[in-house]
Order: sequence, then structure tokens, then C-alpha cells
Amino acid sequence: MMNYTEMLSRLKALGQEHLLRFYDDLSADKQLTLLKKLGETDFSYLAAFASRMAEVPRGEITPIPVLRIREIEEKRAAYEAAGLRALSEGKAAAVLLAGGSGSRLGHEGPKGTFDIGISRPVFIFQRLIENLSATAARAGRPLTLFIMTSETNDAETRAFFEAHGFFGYDPSFVHFFTQAMAPAVDENGKILMETASRPVSAPNGNGGWLLSMEASGMLDIARREGVEWLNVFSVDNVLQQICDPVFLGATITSGCASGSKVVRKTSPEEKVGVMCLENGRTAVVEYYELSDEMRNAKDENGNYLYYYGVILNYLFRIEDAAAVMHEQMPVHFAHKKIPCIDAEGRQVTPDEPNGWKFEYFIFDLLHELNGCLAFEIDRDREFAPVKNRTGADSPETARALLLAQGISL
Ligand code: UTP
Repeated sequence: MMNYTEMLSRLKALGQEHLLRFYDDLSADKQLTLLKKLGETDFSYLAAFASRMAEVPRGEITPIPVLRIREIEEKRAAYEAAGLRALSEGKAAAVLLAGGSGSRLGHEGPKGTFDIGISRPVFIFQRLIENLSATAARAGRPLTLFIMTSETNDAETRAFFEAHGFFGYDPSFVHFFTQAMAPAVDENGKILMETASRPVSAPNGNGGWLLSMEASGMLDIARREGVEWLNVFSVDNVLQQICDPVFLGATITSGCASGSKVVRKTSPEEKVGVMCLENGRTAVVEYYELSDEMRNAKDENGNYLYYYGVILNYLFRIEDAAAVMHEQMPVHFAHKKIPCIDAEGRQVTPDEPNGWKFEYFIFDLLHELNGCLAFEIDRDREFAPVKNRTGADSPETARALLLAQGISL
């Protein structure tokens, strides 16, 4: 670990020496904590932030071909057989991304611990395990599940699974790992302080999963087990189909290195990222980046061209993804309200965004891979996101969708 003098000179070189502003006022213990935290801080994000104005303009965007529900139904039996074969041979595992802060839902505790039940408890994690168990039963073996948490929610997530007996799933097939954190900066690129002995840090986005799997030894576990495909999915879709054999079989058959489940949007305005091609390679255009022209563009038959949204359920062929994971992925900047202390050490709870968080996005990895099968799902059966406290994509809308699927709550 660097001592004070070494750290000060390092920070000076980065223009971040304010991080040691309160050092002399701290107890010896807290001084060590601060030096340790600063030692763990990944300062490489600062260069990306400094050059953010020079963001590369987007390339030529064109529609992506989508494997539509009708075509899937015609070949369902063959896809399903291929997928079940791969599952029964242990060639696929699941990766649950549960490191997000879930700030929109505003639930105390990890998002997966939210109870969506009405007359009985039905936790989000429980729903996901139920769906995974259903596939495992069909595959005739437990499927390995990796769960990505963050420094902030790791202990609580593990304790929750323990307390609920892993909802009946065999714990020896569940592996937790913690994702990397990124610092957060003010408007001038200075790293914010949470307390006098701790810089602000936040999970580095859902795109950090693969490097964090490698760093935590999870990739080695997957390889040792002979896993070839990882099904990566978000915590907040309570109808999430996990290691879906039809999706897996279709992706394997397609020869693509990755697959993505997509939903047909309900209207051009729906707030989901849209799958497309950028300079001929897989890309996602976020709803807030979508121009009016793209949003409403139609082909000669009157069909919308950019109408398939991603639901954060992807398949990655491990070795293809591992081959590109160390390439520099774009860093995205989110303008957020970030609680911190000011130069005098006073607590600040902002009403307006006061700084920037850094995030990697999972779909930037798709762009690096050779091919992605866009696989359309029936949204009523598979898409019930819990994002917001009320309104669209809230517990209320998700409950209605679960009940419509005959799932008792
Ligand atoms: P969201 O983009 O909805 O982010 O995550 P969030 O942080 O959970 O929620 P808000 O925006 O604060 O309300 C999509 C998926 O990616 C995971 C989330 O846990 C969720 O499954 N995620 C997100 C991570 O695992 N790590 C991150 O750093 C961010």
C-alpha cells in the first residue's frame, strides 16, 4: 500500500490531491482506510472523462434482421432439442446481474429482495430461481448460476439467499462475485468524497460483468466445468426466462457468437434501447439517443425499421467474449445527484445532478463480437420489468403480467 507521501504525489499528477484534504484531521485508523481506498480506486476513468467532449460520432445505423416469433415457432422443436442437449451436457450457465443500485425503485436493500407478492411473499430473486429451476428440471441437471453483486449489496444479497435456503436451489451450483467499482466526479472532473476518509464510488455499470468474472475466478470455474455459453440477464424482469433452451438452440444453430432477446415495442415512444447495426456490427441505440427520424422510420411495407428493444437477456459464447474483453470499451457518463461532502467537510444532499458516474454498458461487448442473433420474444410471457416505483414498469404492472401468466401472488 502507498504511504501518504507516495499517494500525494500520485494524486498531484492526476490533479486529485484534494482527496487528501482531510488527512491530517483523521484518526490513524481512518488515515489507513483512506490510503487503502485510494489505492483501490481506478483512476483510469478520469482520462475518459477528460476526453468526453471528443466522443466519437456514431457510425452508419441500419436495421438488424430479427428472428421473429413466427419463424421461431416453425423451428421450435429443433431449436429446443439443440438447446436442451447443450444444457444437459453442462454447456451453458446463467449470470444474474444484481450489482445495480436500483435507485428508481427506491427499495431498501438489493432489488432482488423486493417482495412482489400480494397474499404471500414472492421475492424477485425467488421468481428468478423458480424460472431457472424449471429449466434445470427439463435439462435433467442443476444449472450453474453466477450472481454478480456490488460492494454495496454483496453481504445483504448473500445473507438473503442463505436465509431463504436459496429458494430450494442447490447452493453448490451458485457462485457470488462482486463487480468492480468506479469513482464519481464533480462537474470539473474532481473525484467526490463520501466522507473525509472515503471517495465516492459506485458499481461500474452492467458492462463490467465479464472482467469482474475473470478477476474473481468465475471465468475459470465456468471453463473448468466445460461451460461454453453464458446467459446474462438482469435482476428486474420477474418473467425472465433463464437459459431458455429455444433461445440457446437458435443461437447455437445461427453460428453467431452472441444472442439477444428482443421485444417488439408497443409504440415508437416506448423507452427501451433499440437493437440495430452500426457500420454493419451489432449495436444498441438507447431510447434517449433515438432521433425522431429513426424512431418513426418505416420500410416500404409500412413496418417500423427500429422497433425491437433489448430486455437485457443475452447469450455470449465464452471464448469469443473472453477474446475481446480486454479491449477498451466505451465509458458512458451518467449525470446524477450524488450525496457527498463539500470542501469544508459538510454533508451535501443535492436536489439536482451535481456530478458524473462512470458506467460500462453490456451491449458494447456485443459490438465487438461476430454476430448477434436478435431473437424476438412474446412480451406477455417473458417481459415484466420492475424498474420504477409507480407507473410504467413498476411492481403494479409486473404483478398484472404475472397474474395473467397464472403465477399466484
Ligand atoms: P439498470 O440499468 O436498471 O440500473 O440495471 P440499476 O442501477 O439497477 O437501476 P436504477 O437505474 O438505479 O434505477 C439493469 C441491470 O443491470 C444490473 C442491475 O442490477 C440490473 O440487473 N447492473 C446495473 C449491475 O449489475 N451493475 C451495475 O453497475 C448497473
